[in-house]
Amino acid sequence: MKIYLYGVREDEKGYLKEWHNAHPEVTIDYTNQIFNDDTVDLAKDATGVVFLQTQPYPRTALKKLHDFGVSKISVRNVGLDGFDFKDLRDYKFSLTNVPVYSPNAIAEHTTGLMLRLLRRVPEFDKKFNNTDFSWFPTIGEEINGKTVGIVGTGHIGSVVARIMMAMGAKVVAYDIKPNPYLENLGVYVDSLDEVLAQADILTLHTPLAKRDVHMIDADAISKMKDGAIIINAARGGLIDTDALIAALDSGKIAGAGLDVLETENDVFQKKFNNLEEVKDPQFKALLNRDNVIITPHTAFYTTTAVHNMVFDSMTDNLKMQKNEQPKYPVDINVE
Ligand code: COI
Repeated sequence: MKIYLYGVREDEKGYLKEWHNAHPEVTIDYTNQIFNDDTVDLAKDATGVVFLQTQPYPRTALKKLHDFGVSKISVRNVGLDGFDFKDLRDYKFSLTNVPVYSPNAIAEHTTGLMLRLLRRVPEFDKKFNNTDFSWFPTIGEEINGKTVGIVGTGHIGSVVARIMMAMGAKVVAYDIKPNPYLENLGVYVDSLDEVLAQADILTLHTPLAKRDVHMIDADAISKMKDGAIIINAARGGLIDTDALIAALDSGKIAGAGLDVLETENDVFQKKFNNLEEVKDPQFKALLNRDNVIITPHTAFYTTTAVHNMVFDSMTDNLKMQKNEQPKYPVDINVE
């Protein structure tokens, strides 16, 4: 058995070694490159592959993988929007992901984005760097007493709900599959529109299903309270970025905390020498605003999360290869 991993970072290698020590019967090999048509040949003699990337998985590369006889794919993350499930069905792949590597990692980062916006941390940082240590006029707002609208109450959204309630917020939530614990607390409303209408702070925690692309567009924003803030640590495609930029320009939306962007693959995980080199117009339009905080898809990035991403994906890939039931199988027949 040989598992080939793509997109391996330095910080994953220690966990990979630890996993390998416990499973010496498995051969492992890896590359720091992502999976695509140029790199698929690296997995030629593998029996399973483990991926982690935000870029799409090309059908042509998946076909080649199938032709090599590889049928077990595990991803080290939760989101599956890089796949067209039809490709996986056509080439008869089995798939696992890691849906609960650390919901807290993302929920805590989400909370941090809210707090940094509400307490005007970018403005205080600027003042501080300018040797201005005054309070006025940079007065903040509290989460306590606010209405926080949560769209998507899976593992991550429900931790966000609990944190928000503990901080004294009123939570209103919407999900097509309500979570029984939150249902008992009476937080659900019947539609996305009701969440939009009530939220002082809107936070998104849904996967990027095709039907949810631009869930937050100009029409959705028009249904929100004036001066609401939006947090997105889920997928960039959930928000129509141009509509968000227009709403920030007009003041309809008072602030945004964005860990993901529609065009993030052009910018995130890259090192530029200066901003001139960055070409993405949406990213540039969002920069240098006191009321916009961008983090480069780092909400997941904690030691707990990375450990679990490596261990759970590797263990499930091995289980599939041994014809055992993996912990996190993905039903590729459900779009
Ligand atoms: C996910 O788990 O889907 C994330 O967004 C994290 C990232 C490493 C892809």
